[in-house]
Amino acid sequence: MVQGSSSRFLITGAKGFIGAWIVKNLVERGERPWVFDLDPESHRLRAVLSDEQLESVTFLRGDVTEVEDLDRVVAEAGITHLIHLAGLQVPSCAANPPLGARVNVIGTLNVFEVARRRRDLVKRIVYASSAAVFGPEEFFGRVTVPEGAPLHPGTHYGVFKQCNEGNARVYFANDGISSVGLRPWAVYGVGRDQGISSGPTKAIKASVIGRAYTIRFTGAVDLQYVDDCARIFLRGAEIDLPGARVYTLRGSVVQVAEFIRTLERVYPRAQGLIRAEGKQLPIAPDLDDSAVVRDLGEIPRTPLEEGIRQTVMTFERLQREGRLDTRDLES
Ligand SMILES: NC(=O)c1ccc[n+]([C@@H]2O[C@H](COP(=O)([O-])OP(=O)(O)OC[C@H]3O[C@@H](n4cnc5c(N)ncnc54)[C@H](O)[C@@H]3O)[C@@H](O)[C@H]2O)c1
Repeated sequence: MVQGSSSRFLITGAKGFIGAWIVKNLVERGERPWVFDLDPESHRLRAVLSDEQLESVTFLRGDVTEVEDLDRVVAEAGITHLIHLAGLQVPSCAANPPLGARVNVIGTLNVFEVARRRRDLVKRIVYASSAAVFGPEEFFGRVTVPEGAPLHPGTHYGVFKQCNEGNARVYFANDGISSVGLRPWAVYGVGRDQGISSGPTKAIKASVIGRAYTIRFTGAVDLQYVDDCARIFLRGAEIDLPGARVYTLRGSVVQVAEFIRTLERVYPRAQGLIRAEGKQLPIAPDLDDSAVVRDLGEIPRTPLEEGIRQTVMTFERLQREGRLDTRDLES
């Protein structure tokens, strides 16, 4: 196991779900990451890291829409690797598109802008795009959508993510700034408490406390275990690939009804508690991820059963410790 390195990682939005797991992976390897987030609370990080592990983390309260905030931190800390996750999710972008664009588009431009100003320091940028860039299944038919298929995002959120991919391409063309954009679909695991596709994780949490829960969509979904996603982000941050790369990620492509059956099999306590209603989510569910495998090597693929099992175990532990936050089950 690597015991730290000369790399200095700054993760924007690291108090969020995926960020907490990236920080966990870094700390477990002996790194001392910097967390840059607007949120004063750290409940997701505290759910997945111990108090002792959190001592290795430097917390910086900041807003990605303020380029000078970010620039100062990167310069002062000597950041070499920028992992950019800060953003608003689909419902927030739908409720307030101008704010969504400010955070998701301007915020991402600011990350690239800082990398351009501090190119003597910043070696790598990885940023979160999304499978939402593809848009609904009806554009593609019921097939595995190949890499490079035309994009038809059906939400402001998806359009903003597509815009970020375009800006990344221009930063490489104009300034030689290389980057890796990753497109997760629906990531699940401890800490997933908001966003349109958080239903499966909430269903696991509700089962642990013996409460009924309704997932608000049906049909096919691609569920990726969060630790796999976090490790792919880190692989993208460490591999030296020139260009503005964008990779589609893929987990377990299942019907929501199949997810519920799997949860009931893995955790019989869930039986009869979980149902689903509503339409399929407006993102093609079956996406080819051969490019990420080609360029980053074989990627972690935790089977759905195992991801559910690990999530149940952590939720049960948090409940035993009186620390299971269930406020998200109301939304
Ligand atoms: N979770 C998924 O299934 C999924 C799927 C596809 C793409 N993504 C993308 O991955 C990234 C991380 O997703 P997540 O699920 O961890 O999200 P999350 O909502 O849990 O976390 C986002 C974090 O960004 C922070 N943030 C928001 N505005 C900010 C600002 N102006 N300045 C600084 N910090 C700010 C929030 O405080 C929060 O901690 C996002 O960009 C998201 O769009 C997530």
